[in-house]
Amino acid sequence: MSNKPSIQVFRPTFRVEECLDEIRQCLEMGWSGMGFKTVELEKAWCEYTGLSHSHFLGSATAGLHLAIKILAKKHGWQEGDEVITSPLTFVSTNHAIMYERFSPVFADIDEHLCLDPESIESRITPRTKAVMFVGLGGNTGRLKEVQELCQRRGLSLILDAAHMAGTRLDGEHVGKQAEVSVFSFQAVKNLPTADSGMICFASEEDDQAVRKWTWLGINKDTFARTVVQGSYKWYYDVEEVGFKYHGNSIMASLGLVGLKYLDRDNAYRRQMATWYKELLSDREDVQFIPMGPGCETSQHLFQLLINNRDEVVSQLASNGIHPGVHYRDNTEYDMYAYGNGTCPNATKVSASTISLPLHMGLTRSDVETVAKTLSSILDMHCASQRAICA
Ligand SMILES: Cc1ncc(COP(=O)(O)O)c(C=O)c1O
Repeated sequence: MSNKPSIQVFRPTFRVEECLDEIRQCLEMGWSGMGFKTVELEKAWCEYTGLSHSHFLGSATAGLHLAIKILAKKHGWQEGDEVITSPLTFVSTNHAIMYERFSPVFADIDEHLCLDPESIESRITPRTKAVMFVGLGGNTGRLKEVQELCQRRGLSLILDAAHMAGTRLDGEHVGKQAEVSVFSFQAVKNLPTADSGMICFASEEDDQAVRKWTWLGINKDTFARTVVQGSYKWYYDVEEVGFKYHGNSIMASLGLVGLKYLDRDNAYRRQMATWYKELLSDREDVQFIPMGPGCETSQHLFQLLINNRDEVVSQLASNGIHPGVHYRDNTEYDMYAYGNGTCPNATKVSASTISLPLHMGLTRSDVETVAKTLSSILDMHCASQRAICA
């Protein structure tokens, strides 16, 4: 057997007995679908974040789609209208805009790897309706400036907060800055389930609307009809051609347990980031990503910028260390190639970003192993480059 470490970029930690206890309640009650634990989690998420509305979903991708759909209907957007968005994100962010036949317009990123307010401003046209801001890795970047810009220019602000469970801005949980914020509780996120998410609208009316859209357009949920009202009122109305996007009680059970540990877990993530920074601080060939002003990050990712990224990643892999890359510039994909060349910072970062392993199963000694191995690989590159130059 190889004695090399096997250190993955992500690995979720579940408090197994507590999760099983929550899930057992669902199984014993005979209620594993929407309602029961999903209602408990929505309430707990509102209490935890201070946000006024939360609706539990099957995924954040579903939430981003409905964020676009509901705001478009409310504000009267027309097919082909534009949403300014980030090229450095998971494709869900931009697919959500495409699902509703609007046009993603890419603006460039800044040193926080989030949308740059100046670049956003330069991309506004008469067809621009909204800005989709991605809190990459949990960083708030210059979100407050973007919020002010959206207010000034009459644009909706959607926050892709997939990485931001537990991120605080000026001491308060992030989310209030936007008309709608969407969090992911997918398997490797800070609050892991298997697949689920939460959509948080600022307005009561939008929150009511999203509850219909996530259940096929039906205007009442089954739990309310059977358990709350006591008799099965099957004579419901269907007001929209909605989707099957709501979350279920098994996922919510995992979320309820995870939420109790979220702050503690995120504090440990930030501790690991501090260790990485200390261990790599002497290197001139490693660039750290600064947090935005007022940001206490969820530290979903620990990203660096380095040269020869692809070679370094494969050399780390041959040493049993498996980092990630978040993300490829979306304009490198066929779907979004029309934006290629419009965001030079994103293109550069796409070629040089690496996410070091960061999860609750790692110890200080694992972090040291990763940092030491990375350092010696970078030293080798440095030496070979000097040899070429000489
Ligand atoms: C930035 C970003 N947005 C959206 C999503 C979609 O989340 P989900 O997998 O819950 O649909 C992800 C998931 O990785 C993401 O990283």
